[in-house]
Amino acid sequence: MLTDSYVGLVTQRALHTNHPGHAHVGDTAPLTPMSLRLLLGRVAHEFESRNRIFDLPTGRFWRPDPEIDLGFSFAGRRAASPIGPAAGPHSQLAQNIVLAWLGGSRLFELKTVQILDELEIARPCIDMQTIGYNIEWSQELTLGQSLTEYVKASMLLDILSQWEPVLEHVAGTDGTPGPHVFDMSVGYDLAGISNPRVAEFIVGMRDATAEIDRLRAEIPEPFAEYRDLEFSAGLSDTLTLSTFHGCPPEEIEQITKHLIDEHDLDVIVKLNPTLLGYENVRSIVNDELGYHDVEVKESAFAEDLQFDRGIELIGELNDFAKARGHRFGIKLTNTLVVNNTKQWMPEDTMYLSGPPLHVLASTLLATLADALPGALAIPGHDGDVMVSFSAGVGKDNLAETLAMGVNPATICSDLLKPGGYGRLAPMLKALTATVAESGTTNLSDWRAARQREAIAAGHRATVDQHVAFIRGDGIDPYTRAGNAKLPREVDNELQMFGCVACNFCITVCPNDAFFSISSLDGQEGRQQYLVWSELCNECGNCMTFCPEDGDPAMVKPRLFTDEAVFTGRTGQGFLLRSDGTVVGRTDDDSSAEATTVVARLLQSTAGNPLPNM
Ligand SMILES: Cc1cc2nc3c(=O)[nH]c(=O)nc-3n(C[C@H](O)[C@H](O)[C@H](O)COP(=O)(O)O)c2cc1C
Repeated sequence: MLTDSYVGLVTQRALHTNHPGHAHVGDTAPLTPMSLRLLLGRVAHEFESRNRIFDLPTGRFWRPDPEIDLGFSFAGRRAASPIGPAAGPHSQLAQNIVLAWLGGSRLFELKTVQILDELEIARPCIDMQTIGYNIEWSQELTLGQSLTEYVKASMLLDILSQWEPVLEHVAGTDGTPGPHVFDMSVGYDLAGISNPRVAEFIVGMRDATAEIDRLRAEIPEPFAEYRDLEFSAGLSDTLTLSTFHGCPPEEIEQITKHLIDEHDLDVIVKLNPTLLGYENVRSIVNDELGYHDVEVKESAFAEDLQFDRGIELIGELNDFAKARGHRFGIKLTNTLVVNNTKQWMPEDTMYLSGPPLHVLASTLLATLADALPGALAIPGHDGDVMVSFSAGVGKDNLAETLAMGVNPATICSDLLKPGGYGRLAPMLKALTATVAESGTTNLSDWRAARQREAIAAGHRATVDQHVAFIRGDGIDPYTRAGNAKLPREVDNELQMFGCVACNFCITVCPNDAFFSISSLDGQEGRQQYLVWSELCNECGNCMTFCPEDGDPAMVKPRLFTDEAVFTGRTGQGFLLRSDGTVVGRTDDDSSAEATTVVARLLQSTAGNPLPNM
């Protein structure tokens, strides 16, 4: 339920600098995933009619360079590129995972699931105005729905990996897009993780045969030849444990052992920046990087795993895993808990990500490496504890991040900026160019060369060199001054039809809830923007980046395919019936007119990304 204070907050949104908005008053927005039938129908129709898939143009698909191998081994499983979405909004719904894959992701840290799978997340829950903040607590689907989404995603990738029209844009020299890895993520305590419902989820991910067989019948005509395909049934046998949201430190050990013993998994423990200690974190964020406006939450440090115990635990758990023939790793880091001084999102606490987190996570890596000589699997240390990374990674620092030896670098905040999934392929192209310039042909040779350079420059390892660089004077990409620019604004109230057509609402939406259709004759603007209301969880990200005054998720025509969802919601909306008719309602007397416009837009097949419904 929405609280009064929340209504007050969203009203405040209209007053808040650059966050003008219409209140999301009246109902919350649970996600209603799109069926496999509709997703595949969209793939075929959109590809044929507009040369894109889920609104991503083929020009933004990643095709590996024939000369440079960016592949790596993740706990013995091969992934054809070292990047992918971090657990978060980009790895929750099937189409999100497909979009990340088309952009070149080959390692997917899936959205964290947990036993409390019917939590209501307050909205807005994402604020990427400058650096990154969120209050997104957990997955927004039930455990069963999450499993289905991951199975649908895997089936879509299996089909697209063989579908000639796409293959042409994503295949490497071996004629394939290369292997990918799904890494599960669970939280947040032993009781929840050992609950039979979470166990069922993990078992379902390890062998998804039953779910795949159930979904085969949904594969629509353009892809009928794939109905009997031998789909990958073992979706995942690695897992990243999220130790966030109060995961008790003493349970990290028990949960990891439980996952190894009971589920036969390789396990990565995702650590929090609190390991660096309050004073250290505060002084880096406030004094060194200049974020005077960030209030690091001191109480979160006492509740979290402490450094000395963390060091012991990494050694113990690595030994435990090895003794059972498994791999163990750490992931740096989850977000930083800070007080919500901005008050744009309706919680007392929010979670910081993006550029400043990069400095914290890299510093933590260097500190851990020093405290654990020979343990971490990074250059200069050469141990066997795998290290993966997620903290403020983007095109400009991907190569430097990977040079530290982390595998993979996963990304969240950067993909929530304009361009969205389309930002991935340019990252990989820039990385390819860097590797090529060094005269090497693959990531491990390039890293070895970088390590030699670091030593020659007087550092013990590439990680120390990177930390010295990013914590040196005047490194703008990470400071408050370097991240002060606000999204562009124009002085115009957003209307249902017609806008500046910047496309930002499409690209910043992790769920691909927006799409555009060419305007009708006489209509204002080149493109009209519409939103799949069932895919929109009102996270607020489109509102942050829309240059006009208004909330695209509320103002643009909200489409529904499920009658029950449509009638259960308030505000304007348009129900698309399977017979092709449209039923609409608006908040004023424009309902009949608006419904006619929406129906005509949807009928204009040349510019419409949707298959016949
Ligand atoms: C909106 C949002 C939702 C997130 N959800 C999760 C989650 O479910 N589980 C998790 O372990 N981390 C979650 N994270 C943290 C990210 O996985 C990542 O570790 C963090 O954002 C740092 O990477 P970045 O700077 O690239 O965003 C979330 C982050 C954001 C911004």
